[in-house]
Amino acid sequence: MSHQRVLVVDFGGQYSQLIVRRVREAGVFSEMVPWTAAADALRTERPDALILSGGPRSVLEEGAPDLDPALFEGVPTLGICYGQQLLAKNLGGEVAKSDHREYGARHLDRRVAGSLPSLLRTDEVWMSHGDQVLRVPEGFEITATTTSCPVAGMEDSARRIYGVQFHPEVTHTPGGKELLASFLDRADLRRDWTADAFVEEQVAAIRERVGEGKVLCAVSGGVDSSVMAALLIRAIGERAVCVFVDHGLLRKDEAKQVIQTFGDHFGANLHAFDERERFFGLLAGVTDPERKRKIIGEAFVRVFEDHADELQGCDFLAQGTLYPDVIESGSSTAAKIKTHHNVGGLPDWMRLALIEPLRLLFKDEVRAVGRLLGLPDEMVEREPFPGPGLAVRIVGEVTPEHVRIVQDADAIFRHELRERGLNKGIWQSYAAMLDVRSVGVMGDERTYARPIVLRAVESEDAMTARAVDIPFETLSHVATRIVNEVSGVNRVFYDLTSKPPATIELE
Ligand code: XMP
Repeated sequence: MSHQRVLVVDFGGQYSQLIVRRVREAGVFSEMVPWTAAADALRTERPDALILSGGPRSVLEEGAPDLDPALFEGVPTLGICYGQQLLAKNLGGEVAKSDHREYGARHLDRRVAGSLPSLLRTDEVWMSHGDQVLRVPEGFEITATTTSCPVAGMEDSARRIYGVQFHPEVTHTPGGKELLASFLDRADLRRDWTADAFVEEQVAAIRERVGEGKVLCAVSGGVDSSVMAALLIRAIGERAVCVFVDHGLLRKDEAKQVIQTFGDHFGANLHAFDERERFFGLLAGVTDPERKRKIIGEAFVRVFEDHADELQGCDFLAQGTLYPDVIESGSSTAAKIKTHHNVGGLPDWMRLALIEPLRLLFKDEVRAVGRLLGLPDEMVEREPFPGPGLAVRIVGEVTPEHVRIVQDADAIFRHELRERGLNKGIWQSYAAMLDVRSVGVMGDERTYARPIVLRAVESEDAMTARAVDIPFETLSHVATRIVNEVSGVNRVFYDLTSKPPATIELE
């Protein structure tokens, strides 16, 4: 069964991805395309509904992002912020620069009964715009206003074209979810995009693509690759050959735990290779973050090729790539921030064909699929951990000694968080190391050593993140323990920066 699909056209707005998530949460499959690829996407496959996102530019500027409405004629459409302005401009209305920007929480002072804005729980909405619609196109009625925004919402219900100036996709607009869901209902969409349906479809797709072939499933112990492996095993049983490479860059004792849990759950399907020496050898003397990632990505594939006898006859390589990785690495509008090695870093000579069954999913959707496939909580609830492991948490050279220090400090930090129940609600927490040295005094001795940085962030999808407000007493206790118990550390810092402007990992 093929699913109905809502296409979200991204005009560069910071909430575009959230729109996709909200539509999926409402039970309809949704995908995002950058506006530059939208015309082609619309010509290739007509979506069942369209959402035009917000964006930082002005529709009045020369060369501003645009989309010809003829390309989506007859498709139920919702324009949000920039999207609404673009609809107004292109369908014969009028958009103007306003004297002042509206930013943050605003109150609608008028809402038309039965319109999309009437579905909001309160009159509070989240706004972020400079321009505004002054006159709606023919056939449209104004559905909401604020004191300073004459067209906070508009619709032509006969043509099923809707616009809102505010952002229903953010939680600061109470009832925004209901508004989006109502748009989906007005577009006559079925709410049948569920984890069950996803598993069923993927199992069929994998069987068809793989035929009688074998698939090498690269597992790291993390949520994504465990769920990917479970899906492959569900689809093709023992022809899914799971491989775990210990690159020596995991958390303390994690390699042992992964092998244990995986073995308990998947039986004999796992091949584990201890490749610590190979990785440390290749990383010796390397300090550039992008080079580290590239080396690690390539080394993984070399490991698979070197063990070809054992992994005989594999034609495919399955990876747990997720939708945010795909968006961050591939989108034409987003700047390349980091090479996520499971997407961009594979070498050209790799002979295995790639299978990425989760590439359309967000993390929480992957967790739901994992639960459905019967994976234990300890696998499904795990914190995200980067593929290159501690290599991106050690600024500067990665050596066995540096890894030992970070592992020990990390184990103390996370233990203390768990002891106090502070780990709940944390997206990621870890210890890392900086490439500087500073002076300290221990006993009566002068020390000259590297510092440890502690980081703990809250996040919904890793695209943005905030530092967690950990009680000072806890931080201070952790710092004391680390300096006393982990040789080679004489100072401990706590990282307070959000993403953006920082990233979650240090490199
Ligand atoms: P940043 O540091 O970009 O990280 O804010 C966002 C999320 O991605 C994880 N991450 C990676 N995951 N391979 C991965 O599989 C990578 O190379 C990689 N780099 C970062 C990071 O842990 C966070 O959850």
